[in-house]
Amino acid sequence: GKTILVTGVASGIGARTAELAGQMGADVIGVDVREPAGATTAFIKGDLSTAAGVADIVAQLPSRLDALANVAGLSGNTGIVSTLSVNFYGLRALSEAVAPRIREGGAIVNVASIAGYGWRAHLERAKTLVGIEGFPDVGALAAEHGLKDEEGYPLSKELLVLWTMRAAHLPLFRDRGIRVNAASPGPVETPILKQFRAVLGDARVDSDITRVGRAGTAADIAPAVLFLCSDGARWINGTNLATDGGLEASINAEVL
Ligand code: NAI
Repeated sequence: GKTILVTGVASGIGARTAELAGQMGADVIGVDVREPAGATTAFIKGDLSTAAGVADIVAQLPSRLDALANVAGLSGNTGIVSTLSVNFYGLRALSEAVAPRIREGGAIVNVASIAGYGWRAHLERAKTLVGIEGFPDVGALAAEHGLKDEEGYPLSKELLVLWTMRAAHLPLFRDRGIRVNAASPGPVETPILKQFRAVLGDARVDSDITRVGRAGTAADIAPAVLFLCSDGARWINGTNLATDGGLEASINAEVL
């Protein structure tokens, strides 16, 4: 059987991804900072927001994995330091540490967001922040670059989308035959959506939902994540798959 590591398994998209992977016959190792309610698979309680937390998770992992699904994320409502740490620098640190354990032909899938499409508009900033190696002091970084709390979420996802493209070509992953892709949901009915409503306002979220007829569900996203993890996606690398019911296409179609 295959072994997949899924982060963010205590809730929403991560929980559904872990459940579906288990139904498909995979051995699932779940990671979250919170205990999942009805855990049926192996679980590691761990915190992706610090280098020490990531190292502690990695120390508990088996020597061989088939895939890593990076699903855990924060909405930004806890401030830019925690958000950039979990959504990007912690995710990247985990991916780099886990890469040597992923078998040839395995995969990493990053759950990004429609909020990450702005990387082109902030290219210099994104390149600078992606270029910082290791797990930086994110508080110092935010101060140095004058980053505001409300920028934390979109910035974290911009960095993630840009890094996904780059990572596919980094020797650490490429030379091991590990594919790195992203999936970018639009609004999805999970606990985090309430937090997005608080940050962005109901009008903005509802307008996105109206464009595509309904909000997504975790069950809409999980199969796409697992497809990108699977051997069937063997020729898909460094891409960002819109998993948003057509939202991104609808917005682009208006300007094209
Ligand atoms: P959720 O809030 O239901 O689940 C997120 C999970 O991440 C939680 O179980 C939480 O405990 C975990 N987590 C947070 N901080 C952590 C840390 N320091 N270490 C380990 N785990 C931690 O939200 P949802 O919707 O399942 O989100 C999953 C991913 O999907 C996130 O990356 C989010 O940004 C992304 N996304 C969600 C959208 C939505 O509307 N629900 C839209 C676009 C992207």
